[in-house]
Amino acid sequence: MSTTHSASSGAGAGGTEAARKTAGALTYSSGFGNEHVSEAVPGALPVGRNSPQRAPLGLYAEQLSGTAFTEPRHHNRRSWLYRVRPSAAHPPFHRIDNKRLRSAPFTEVEPDPNRLRWSPLPVPTEPTDFVDGLVTVGGNGDVLQRTGMGIHWYAANRSMTDRVFSDADGELLIVPERGGLLLRTELGLLACEPGHVALIPRGVRFRVELLDAEARGYVCENYGAPFRLPDLGPIGANGLANARDFQAPVAAYDEDVDRATEVVNKFGGNLWAAAYDHSPLDVVAWHGNHVPYVYDLRRFNVIGTISYDHPDPSIFTVLTSPSDTPGLAGVDFVVFAPRWLVGEDTFRPPYFHRNVMSEFMGLVEGAYDAKAEGFVPGGASLHNMMSAHGPDRETFDRASAAELKPQRVDDGLAFMFETRWPVVPTAQAMAAGHRQDGYDAVWQGLERHFDV
Ligand SMILES: [Fe+2]
Repeated sequence: MSTTHSASSGAGAGGTEAARKTAGALTYSSGFGNEHVSEAVPGALPVGRNSPQRAPLGLYAEQLSGTAFTEPRHHNRRSWLYRVRPSAAHPPFHRIDNKRLRSAPFTEVEPDPNRLRWSPLPVPTEPTDFVDGLVTVGGNGDVLQRTGMGIHWYAANRSMTDRVFSDADGELLIVPERGGLLLRTELGLLACEPGHVALIPRGVRFRVELLDAEARGYVCENYGAPFRLPDLGPIGANGLANARDFQAPVAAYDEDVDRATEVVNKFGGNLWAAAYDHSPLDVVAWHGNHVPYVYDLRRFNVIGTISYDHPDPSIFTVLTSPSDTPGLAGVDFVVFAPRWLVGEDTFRPPYFHRNVMSEFMGLVEGAYDAKAEGFVPGGASLHNMMSAHGPDRETFDRASAAELKPQRVDDGLAFMFETRWPVVPTAQAMAAGHRQDGYDAVWQGLERHFDV
């Protein structure tokens, strides 16, 4: 067991240093979907029952349900929390400004068949924390129907202090591109650097501290079924993202629990806030499987061809949110991680493609092997349903003429949120100064080579 009390590290250089020190000392409980068990104080976790007449150490027992009680056991998500105060002890929530956060249904602009691309979101100059720094790109579905997803960028330059966020509308998959994050959650602390992703389940409260002066990245807000590991089929019992590499926090309650805290709740597409007279990060012990995780994308076991062609990029799926149709994901999270290309007589970059699924791509670092330029870390592209995309001319010419010796692709880390529904952009994403004009030019100059 590990105890990590959380003196607020706040904003500024001193705060960042304190957050880094805390992040460097964290321990975790490993395994996606496990029934994790953790107590910050020995004896805080009841033994043999969830809700004893009197919980140990004067704590309150509270269940957090991430799935309906009656969903199949292998899909069921819930955790039992043993906390200093019950979450129910709070005054009313009041609406606060959504700022640049938007939610489904997305109706501000017409669905657009054009291929779209953005340069990185500028880092703010005004003091901006993680919640204030969320900027919605677009999405699909309906938060009140618990279908679809929202896609956001974030850019922040200060830690959240005395402020906690939770999202009733969905789980949050956070993909940092610049700057590390210290995530102080109800269930404990996670450190998430660029190259890692963090998964915050629906309803779990958390606070984001910055490990660097600036933080920027992407968020997939999944309104649908919780992300799970994809089935492996003929791949076998191992491969892709291995369950043990997902790291959950250990219990770590806020030692200054009586500090006034603003609890921000995203509900029904809007932000609401309540003024708690204590920190809700006061869980002393917990057990269950509705838990946050951090995962190092470089641990992804990349599988590809050792003969010819390359498999469809579904082979790179890290996490999937299934729908009611087998194999048809509400959203897949896909990573293009460092790998070897060895295919014989094969056009090795991603092929030209028109897809019923819609593809939002981002880049954590380096370059992507289908685009020679214009797609940079922090940037993004959106190739909506049935829009034609693929390598640019320079990449096509190079790959068509390349000597097909084994090639290591290790200069980039790209990812994709791939979804069954078209992604409708927000008005602010379409009007953004960092949206690139002339993206279509990428595919100009692909010459006619047909010769009978
Ligand atoms: Fe594609």
